Amino acid sequence: GIIRDAAVLIDGGVVTWVGRAAEASNAHPSVEFRPSGLVRGANIDGSLDARERADVAGTTLDVEVVEVVDVGGRALIPGFVDSHTHLVFGGDRADEFAARMAGRAYEAGGIRSTVAATRAATDDELRTRLATFVAELHAQGTTTFEIKSGYGLSVVDEERLVRLAREVTDEVTFLGAHVVPFEFREDPRFTAPDGAGTPEAAARAADAYVDLVVGEMLDACAPHARWVDAFCERGAFTPEQSRRVLEAGAAAGLGIRVHGNQLGHGGGVRLAVELGAASVDHCTYLDEADVAALAASGTVATLLPGVEFSTRQPYPDARRLIDAGVSVALASDCNPGSSFTSSLPFCIAVAVRDMGLTPAEALWASTAGGALALRRTDVGALRPGARADLVELDAPSHVHLAYRPGVPLVRRVWAAGELVA
Ligand code: NIG
Ligand code: FE
Repeated sequence: GIIRDAAVLIDGGVVTWVGRAAEASNAHPSVEFRPSGLVRGANIDGSLDARERADVAGTTLDVEVVEVVDVGGRALIPGFVDSHTHLVFGGDRADEFAARMAGRAYEAGGIRSTVAATRAATDDELRTRLATFVAELHAQGTTTFEIKSGYGLSVVDEERLVRLAREVTDEVTFLGAHVVPFEFREDPRFTAPDGAGTPEAAARAADAYVDLVVGEMLDACAPHARWVDAFCERGAFTPEQSRRVLEAGAAAGLGIRVHGNQLGHGGGVRLAVELGAASVDHCTYLDEADVAALAASGTVATLLPGVEFSTRQPYPDARRLIDAGVSVALASDCNPGSSFTSSLPFCIAVAVRDMGLTPAEALWASTAGGALALRRTDVGALRPGARADLVELDAPSHVHLAYRPGVPLVRRVWAAGELVA
């Protein structure tokens, strides 16, 4: 919901109280609370933890205020939770994008050119790039973000990507099953006797690559990851191959997420639901059975409007999903091929304009929805006990995120109570 003339109290990086500023003032005659003011407090009572403090906040709060921040009547929203990115990679694919805008179709195979550039990059080059992306995310209000591997596709390179991702986030996803790399596709052991490029040869190469993914590659990557993912799509992996990867990942202690139904109808969504995935991402092409399966499940449908924008696919129908009772998240899918935006405000604008979400639903989907897709309860909402991840908008309300597309409305950003942008 929306609270007008609000105040937020923060202690130790955690929200301890949210409400009308006037009520906070009653508890603190010594402190002046302005409308939409934000107060950071400390030493409420050393014997109580954050949640207990919040419970007593309305009546007996005793805060030593160390900092008061006045946001001058602007909107304050939770930090965005971007539950789907691919931010560790080398190079870019601007030429491919330009060709696509001139009429060429998007194909999963483009991933392989980023694999070559990523393998050629040093750890420090990838790290520097990653730091730039993290700054970009913060500047646009994102305070929690997931990062997938998937541009290494060898044991050594996938391990490198999950390890580097883990340096900047707890939400790391092992996506060894992104596409089948060149060295498998062109290996004479799989191409003979039909020759490279036949469906039979491609299937043999994919099966052999999946053997590697569920074996040595998973062993090397699982210690750095929280999630396993597979690109279940024509041109990538079949539902059977995806199932092998996801079940092996789950057996190694990882939670399941799936790339499904991006380029056409297929079994990705149903597989995700059957395996109890936290989220199935893309959901661009859904039939009635897919929607019903999602609605009856605990799997979040994560929509990635940056992809449809940049590949000229039709936007997914978020309205249909919400009306059917599906939990919907919005994420950027930031990657050099299908969606090179790190901006959730941009995704919100598109989701409102073209996918049938209200501004409030789009804000929910990119904060609480993203948290649900990551099975997190500590982020994505401004409530007592939540991490103090706050975004001050240069606007009087969240509606402006969609109403003023392309305008940099993120004014200040706090992550766990610290100013990060
Ligand atoms: O989520 N769908 C698969 N993977 C990425 C695209 C990666 C690429 O084109 O490089 C995605 O869209
Ligand atoms: Fe993706």
